[in-house]
Amino acid sequence: MSSPKSRKLPVPPQSQLAKLLADKRVLLCVGCGGVGKTTTSAALALAAARMGRRVLCLTIDPAKRLANSLGLEHMTRDETLVSPEVYARAGITVEGSLTVMMLDTKRTFDEIVTRHASSEKAREAILNNKIYQYVSTSLAGTQEYMAMEKLQALRESGTYDLIVLDTPPTANALDFLDAPERMVEAIDSPAMRWFVQAFTGKSVSLGLLGQGSQLVLKAVSKITGAGFLDQLAGFIAAINDLFGGFTERAKRVSEALRGPEVAFVLVTSPEPMAIEEINFFADRLREFAMPRDVYVVNRVHLPPEPLPSDLPAALLGQGLEGDADFQHAVRAAHHEAALLAKRDASHLERLRMDPSDPTPVLRVPAFETDVHDVAGLARVGEALVGPTAP
Ligand SMILES: Nc1ncnc2c1ncn2[C@@H]1O[C@H](COP(=O)(O)OP(=O)(O)OP(=O)(O)O)[C@@H](O)[C@H]1O
Ligand SMILES: [Mg+2]
Repeated sequence: MSSPKSRKLPVPPQSQLAKLLADKRVLLCVGCGGVGKTTTSAALALAAARMGRRVLCLTIDPAKRLANSLGLEHMTRDETLVSPEVYARAGITVEGSLTVMMLDTKRTFDEIVTRHASSEKAREAILNNKIYQYVSTSLAGTQEYMAMEKLQALRESGTYDLIVLDTPPTANALDFLDAPERMVEAIDSPAMRWFVQAFTGKSVSLGLLGQGSQLVLKAVSKITGAGFLDQLAGFIAAINDLFGGFTERAKRVSEALRGPEVAFVLVTSPEPMAIEEINFFADRLREFAMPRDVYVVNRVHLPPEPLPSDLPAALLGQGLEGDADFQHAVRAAHHEAALLAKRDASHLERLRMDPSDPTPVLRVPAFETDVHDVAGLARVGEALVGPTAP
């Protein structure tokens, strides 16, 4: 007798996301500007903490009210543990812990310099160098690269089970994916070599000035006045001192991003422009052989509950059963909500899916007010992983 074929039951998207929260070490929330990356990353971090994990949420530029509600009162750059009182006020229980931290590009850059500089003197020379100060905050891709750097350092420290990373609003999704490589390119660029050659007195062809050099030259051109050449010479010497460190770290960061411990959360809104960008982003991830673990569609208008077939009867006892104007307004509002939901659903059909391996799609409703506190984050978390975090 042949045994019945085992059938794989589909796993609901909420459970798939809950599994990511339980198993992964790094969640990266990506998407275009304003769709809710910061909100989603904080909500996912809180949900994982409610599941019992020790979570760090690395956030970028949170709205002031949200930062305050998490205890980042003075917009401090330190790791800040969200206190039990905050949870009590929000009426939730948290088994694990949530620490939040605002990402500071310059500070992270300084930390790397400190770690890799060959001596105290070399370190001071770099940190006080004007060109370094400019480049460390202004070079394209620096912020993304630094986010990755911070991530790597924290992963190695083992203080947290899970790190959730918010990402900066990038005009182009490529900026983020290419960040480590681009940083190395900018430093290990023809321009750098050109400067070195210029200072060592060797002749140089202008053909060497490629894309990377434009960035450095642009940065350098902002610094004028006496001492410029000294600063430049100092910078070149310093970068040479650091060179091995940066290149090697960028490679490791790049590799870590492709590891099985990392999950990508693609955040979008139902707006066509945002969907177009996230499709583009998903394509790029595919090209880079990186996973697309889950889509979060934020601020979705969900279909309203159907109206009772006999509305006046349902309003009995509220003094509204005979109020034709009120009933008309209810029907109009319901119709409007249903139209919005239909429009969002039709936009969402444009999300590009791999038919053989569809990415789970989770929807967060558009709430009537902004998400500016822990209770609000808990609501978003519950929309994502279910009413009570497992
Ligand atoms: N589901 C939601 N319902 C209502 N308001 C929301 C929802 N999600 C986010 N918001 C609000 O939308 C605004 C933008 O959200 P958020 O800051 O998370 O976006 P972002 O993608 O991080 O933006 P940026 O790209 O500028 O960093 C915030 O005021 C937030 O409170
Ligand atoms: Mg943000």
